[in-house]
Amino acid sequence: MSVAKKEYKRITVKTLVDMKANGEKISMLTAYDYTMAKIVDGAGTDVILVGDSASNVMAGHETTLPITLDQMIYHASSVVRAVSRALVVVDLPFGSYQSDPKEALRSAIRIMKESGGHALKLEGGKEIKESIKRILNAGIPVMGHLGLTPQSIYKFGTYTVRAKEEQEAMQLLEDAKLLERLGCFAIVLEKIPAELAKQVAASVSIPIIGIGAGNGVDGQVLVLHDMLGMTHEFHPRFLRRYLNLYEDMTQAISQYVDDVKSIDFPNDNEQY
Ligand code: KIV
Repeated sequence: MSVAKKEYKRITVKTLVDMKANGEKISMLTAYDYTMAKIVDGAGTDVILVGDSASNVMAGHETTLPITLDQMIYHASSVVRAVSRALVVVDLPFGSYQSDPKEALRSAIRIMKESGGHALKLEGGKEIKESIKRILNAGIPVMGHLGLTPQSIYKFGTYTVRAKEEQEAMQLLEDAKLLERLGCFAIVLEKIPAELAKQVAASVSIPIIGIGAGNGVDGQVLVLHDMLGMTHEFHPRFLRRYLNLYEDMTQAISQYVDDVKSIDFPNDNEQY
């Protein structure tokens, strides 16, 4: 089904809250470099997340933990240079905000100053409340992230669905309400039961963006390389692949290699 996209010149945090109030779904994708961000923005994506998933898809690490603040700033500034419409949200990487609120604010200011990003995303609920308050007090918009929070993967031990048990579900709901009260403008909910995500979305007035959280929320986010089918070893149930670029690119590159070897490339029209 094709849905009319509303014409917004520039997406702001206020636009997103208005979109939820008007029942308009929010589209969000990751990007980590200029060329991809230009395409993602040009296609009308509302929010571009410079996710710390760059640690996986760009750098080949097993987890998101190794990526540094400097590396996030490099990715974010490349994305910002490409974008003219979307809101650019940047992940605060592991180790840059957990130790104390002052360090969190310092890291937040570095990203905002050095990358030109528009907002930040932090993983966690009440345990990082003071850091979120400090960052918000500095005038920096904050997006929360609850449920499966990959920076805590060694605490969880696995990437399976979170908050299936009553106690964790109730804590997640409380955390979402707390993030709203603190002044966060949106929350990502990752890999939790669809019913719970729907309940959270109905309990707060800020947008809830889901990944593996069903369709009862206010928007969806996917990792760009996954939805384009560039990564082919990762196939969680929530992932819809819109292309199979791994195969298409392999085919194209292999054709190029053959053409070079057989002196088919370059031909007479492809030289001076
Ligand atoms: O880093 C990331 O890509 C994310 C999304 C999975 C929400 O946090």
